Amino acid sequence: MHDAHAGIIGRKIIHHDQTDSTNKEAINWITKKDPIEGTVIMADYQTAGRGQFDRTWQSERGLNIMLSVILKPQFLHPTRQFYLNKMASVAVADAIYNTSGLSTRVKWPNDIYCNESKLAGILIQNFLTAKVIRHTVVGIGININQKSFSDKLGNASSVFLETGRIHDRASVTDNLLESLNKTYILLREKPEKLKESYMNKLLGFKELRIFDDGIRRFEGRIKGIDEYGRLLVDSDMGLKSYDNNSIKMCFE
Ligand code: BTN
Repeated sequence: MHDAHAGIIGRKIIHHDQTDSTNKEAINWITKKDPIEGTVIMADYQTAGRGQFDRTWQSERGLNIMLSVILKPQFLHPTRQFYLNKMASVAVADAIYNTSGLSTRVKWPNDIYCNESKLAGILIQNFLTAKVIRHTVVGIGININQKSFSDKLGNASSVFLETGRIHDRASVTDNLLESLNKTYILLREKPEKLKESYMNKLLGFKELRIFDDGIRRFEGRIKGIDEYGRLLVDSDMGLKSYDNNSIKMCFE
């Protein structure tokens, strides 16, 4: 289905009609088979797709993109691992834009949104020592042609639902691998540029928004993201930094 890709990501592509989870399979490869950097495992259907925080990732058979990329970003200090989230989010947003013309935003830390709906999710799993990131699995799920979603996934959408057009999954996948290659090079060579692209796509950046920190709802403004990937929000409590899952931005 795919040509060999120029660049590291996509040098080897393993395609399955069905697997439990491409991330889980990528982790198996890392522990048992020492795969080359840039190996991509993709599937048309997952029986046990994983999301962040032990959630599941549901995706209809044959309609969407589900893939995991194995990286060995040993040049990146573990304290800067959030740069991997930036690399993946920017590449997913770029690939959607390049192939459908649809502009999306990144909802911190790495959900891809169109208006108030989620089109894509990213699950990054790092394998670290104190000094290096030995392996990273970047798992990406993009809803491409799915026409409806269960009510439980309240805010899910797809590129089809947002554009009214069916998109060729193979072309979007090719573009995604190309975009990932570009952002991976930026990560290594010009991380400041990658940061800039990410901040330009950040949903709600500098706008007055409603947040919920689990204790209360409050108005605040995203001022930035620190080097560890924490969200910096200014509110009547002053400027505070928040870890992933300790704050959410609300839409109403
Ligand atoms: C999230 O938004 O919670 C992250 C979702 C990540 C889903 C992708 S689909 C391909 C890869 N394999 C998985 O089991 N999960 C990721």
